[in-house]
Amino acid sequence: MTAPRARRATVLVTGASRGIGGQAALRLAAAGFDLVLWARTLEGLRQTQQRAAEFGAEVSIDAVDVSDAAQVAAGYAAIRWRSPLTGLVLNAGSGIWQQITEIDDAVWDQTLATNLRGAMLVLRQFLPELQRVPGGLIVGVLSDSAKYPFAGRGAYAASKAGLAALLEVARRETREAGVRVTALLPSRVDTSFQGSLESAGAGCRPGSLSVEDVAEVIGWLFELPAGVEVRELQLSALTSSFGPYQEVSS
Ligand SMILES: NC(=O)c1ccc[n+]([C@@H]2O[C@H](COP(=O)([O-])OP(=O)(O)OC[C@H]3O[C@@H](n4cnc5c(N)ncnc54)[C@H](OP(=O)(O)O)[C@@H]3O)[C@@H](O)[C@H]2O)c1
Repeated sequence: MTAPRARRATVLVTGASRGIGGQAALRLAAAGFDLVLWARTLEGLRQTQQRAAEFGAEVSIDAVDVSDAAQVAAGYAAIRWRSPLTGLVLNAGSGIWQQITEIDDAVWDQTLATNLRGAMLVLRQFLPELQRVPGGLIVGVLSDSAKYPFAGRGAYAASKAGLAALLEVARRETREAGVRVTALLPSRVDTSFQGSLESAGAGCRPGSLSVEDVAEVIGWLFELPAGVEVRELQLSALTSSFGPYQEVSS
């Protein structure tokens, strides 16, 4: 594991109660960051907090629905900063696959509210804080669907494409403060994400990226020199039998 950083700094990870966000939190704790971890339910957050604290990180957790402006504002107000904010991992997300002719209004609204509005609310609340210290980094966990939409992914793909556009705006609006912005577009990851199969759990997607794979990339982004910006990363497992990133054929 990476040696602790000399000067401590804080990263907010949304959707940190399990899956990619939970593992990214551990990877960042191992790299020496303090953490603010949000998700709607506290149980998983407590587990992530406990494991991250073993690396010596100061870890605050809070039950925050990122799609709710009042909860985002209250969550921000409740933070007791131990070190300056240096990063945001916009990871909280949800999605259920439905053909356009079958899209349920509530599913559409919730997908857009979590994946797009939620990211906007977090950016709106935290960008002033993030721009106080040079070297800030925003990592948006998008999806291959942001660029290569599939049938049945109307709400999800639209929300992730919208988030890609929002991140570009954030890049331009924070350029003077030296904030870097990375759009991360993983193909399928082995998590309990509800998108493909409601009953899916970790281990149900053989050949996919693991949460450790994605967390490693997120951790690496935070360890790059402050003058280096990786704008977009398309991420796929060589063994994945799913996804739009074409394998090289011999
Ligand atoms: N798994 C894949 O194949 C894959 C591929 C590409 C991209 N992604 C993206 O990766 C991100 C993480 O997904 P995952 O695979 O790790 O799924 P996951 O295991 O279902 O984790 C989703 C996380 O987001 C949180 N969350 C959901 N809605 C929220 C809300 N309104 N407010 C706050 N937190 C919320 C969940 O916690 P609570 O339920 O407690 O709120 C959970 O911590 C998502 O943005 C997803 O689109 C996933």
